[in-house]
Amino acid sequence: MAGKHVIVANWKMHPASLREAKKLFEATRKIADKASRVSVVIAPPALFLTPLSTGYKGKKIAFAAQNAHEGDGGAFTGDIAVAQVEDVKAHYLLVGHAERRAAGETNDDTRKKVASALYYGLTPVLCVGEHVRTQNGEHFGFVRDQLKAGFQSVDPNAVGKVIVAYEPVWAIGSEEAMSPREMHEMAIFIRKTIVELHGAKGHSVKILYGGAVNEQNAAQMLQFGDVAGLLVGRASINPKEFAALVESIQTNS
Ligand code: PGA
Repeated sequence: MAGKHVIVANWKMHPASLREAKKLFEATRKIADKASRVSVVIAPPALFLTPLSTGYKGKKIAFAAQNAHEGDGGAFTGDIAVAQVEDVKAHYLLVGHAERRAAGETNDDTRKKVASALYYGLTPVLCVGEHVRTQNGEHFGFVRDQLKAGFQSVDPNAVGKVIVAYEPVWAIGSEEAMSPREMHEMAIFIRKTIVELHGAKGHSVKILYGGAVNEQNAAQMLQFGDVAGLLVGRASINPKEFAALVESIQTNS
């Protein structure tokens, strides 16, 4: 195994209160502390970043913002800036999650956010993935366009600092994840595309899989899917499920 598996816990818009967020964090912390082969990145709602990250002194967990505006300030009511994310000790930024794209985020927005995250020293997690799969393989072209835009303003030397999270939209929130075999094929395609566009540093880009990850499929995906980690939604907000998921990785991958 090359390095620890990165497990991003995407809490989305959960939970409803800071009290519950602290409880969920505490449970997640205990799970992470026991798992030597896993490193956990928690992406809580932005309001909870500060109380959770400033109170945490350990090394096992890192923090991510689920989204941010590329600018460092300005007249953007309701947005948070990448600079502000960096200021509250988050080290990762999710960019272009399917739910942000569904709310209107464009490929060009992701280009700006990836560049801004790198500028502020954050690790961007560029989320890509097609809505549907057809027989003629159009999804490869779709993902290629997302990668092309997302990496467009990245200096060739910094390419390896970007993480790509491949999340087929049809698997997010669904019952079944994609098969590790299909993920393997997609991982090869993603790497090949980045190398083609940006040179050899593309080989070192970490790739994560996301979409219906659970305790049944997590370890297999890490073993056979050619991925460095997982982006977990639903299973990350239920401590029992998350504990089982991390334990299955710890023993089976
Ligand atoms: P899910 O969500 O694990 O609930 O399918 C994944 C995601 O949207 O990142």
